[in-house]
Amino acid sequence: MNTAPDRKKLFIKTYGCQMNVYDSERIAESLSTAGYDTVNTPDDADLVMLNTCHIREKAAEKIYSELGRIRQLATAKKERGGEMRVGVAGCVAQAEGAEIVRRQPLVDLVVGPQAYHRLPGMIGEMENGAAAQVLTDFPAEDKFEALPKRAPRAAPTAFLSVQEGCDKFCAFCVVPYTRGAEFSRPVSQIMAEARRLAESGVRELTLLGQNVNAYHGEGADGGTVALAALCHEIAGVDGIERIRYTTSHPNDMSDDLIEAHTSLEVLMPYLHLPVQSGSDRVLKAMNRKHTGDEYIRLIERIRAARPDIALSGDFIVGFPGETDADFRDTMALIDAVGYAQAYSFKYSPRPGTPAAGAEQVPEEVKDERLAILQARLREQQVSFMQDCVGTQMPVLFEKKGREDGQLIGRSPYLQSVFVQAPETMMREIVTVNIDAISTNSLAGSLTDHTV
Ligand code: 5AD
Ligand code: SF4
Repeated sequence: MNTAPDRKKLFIKTYGCQMNVYDSERIAESLSTAGYDTVNTPDDADLVMLNTCHIREKAAEKIYSELGRIRQLATAKKERGGEMRVGVAGCVAQAEGAEIVRRQPLVDLVVGPQAYHRLPGMIGEMENGAAAQVLTDFPAEDKFEALPKRAPRAAPTAFLSVQEGCDKFCAFCVVPYTRGAEFSRPVSQIMAEARRLAESGVRELTLLGQNVNAYHGEGADGGTVALAALCHEIAGVDGIERIRYTTSHPNDMSDDLIEAHTSLEVLMPYLHLPVQSGSDRVLKAMNRKHTGDEYIRLIERIRAARPDIALSGDFIVGFPGETDADFRDTMALIDAVGYAQAYSFKYSPRPGTPAAGAEQVPEEVKDERLAILQARLREQQVSFMQDCVGTQMPVLFEKKGREDGQLIGRSPYLQSVFVQAPETMMREIVTVNIDAISTNSLAGSLTDHTV
């Protein structure tokens, strides 16, 4: 993007989850009102923001080495007579606080996820010569209320944060510490944002929350509204034709939410429902508060409500105390469920979490288990994609592909679909034939009906 001469250049690098992607968009919108336009490279930026993730090991170290590289860019810019300011946001900012400025004095701003609305003020102070500022407490005012309204979007899809934080305290996870306690935005605020996005051409909304299906926001009558009811309300917004939500916890998969997958056509048949392990012993040690069997029975109920639902999950191998037998239970659960796709990780001890001090599974064992598990998940993913070949699917075209005349869209099952299609179909939902699969996407063609 070209920036006007009186505007400053902002480069944001986003790590980690979709919540951070959403937050980075809100940060960019809020800094736009403070005179900053977003650019695609850091080299000549006036302000570089790193929106960080702390979920797995070495996150902080990665940020420090990234800051080292930015320092070189800042030095180069200084030699050209310019100035580059640097901010660190997100969960590493929350966890490390002032330590970041101590280790890398280049940093001007450290701001935790609950304080982004304060950024324009902090930047004002910075520009007036203030020393490095660190803001990691949880301000009393409502961040979402204080942030500027959503700017119009180029894409027909958008994230909408409805819930933040987590009260579950899984023994491996830093989220309850970095993002704080569960908080649900009031329905009226979410509806206003949904309407605004729809008016700017958004057709698919993904509702975000660290524990999104624990959503319990305040409704118009002062009562509490759950996620299923919220989805029903959003489905009534003109222009919104697809709704997704992520990430869910098995224990919050309520009957009405499962039912919504039957009655609410706009609710897409895709569900990310992490189980982490298939061993009851490990699940207990992880403080997940459900067994492997309970999860499998839950999946059966969800499939009864929506037989074609594509399931996704998260798995951790090598949690402290995990034996070969425990690992075999995880593999058995994977076979019983059948995932359309999934994410998997080696356990990584996070300072301050209950499992961090326990005796660790040797690294080679973690590596071996991860390879076995990922191979099986990959087989399942390929088989799911192959089953799609020969079918027709409605695809929402989101962007241009690399090839001439190619558009890239999303299937209901969240797969990328590459199709030769006229640009006029951008932002449209079009029925396409699925012809072939490649590594992580599908190749499709327009049907006789659509051309
Ligand atoms: N080690 C490895 N993976 C983790 N996750 C969360 N904490 C850890 C950790 N300490 C994974 C979980 C979670 C996903 C977002 O990240 O699988 O669902
Ligand atoms: Fe972390 Fe567990 Fe909360 Fe998910 S449910 S954010 S894994 S503590």
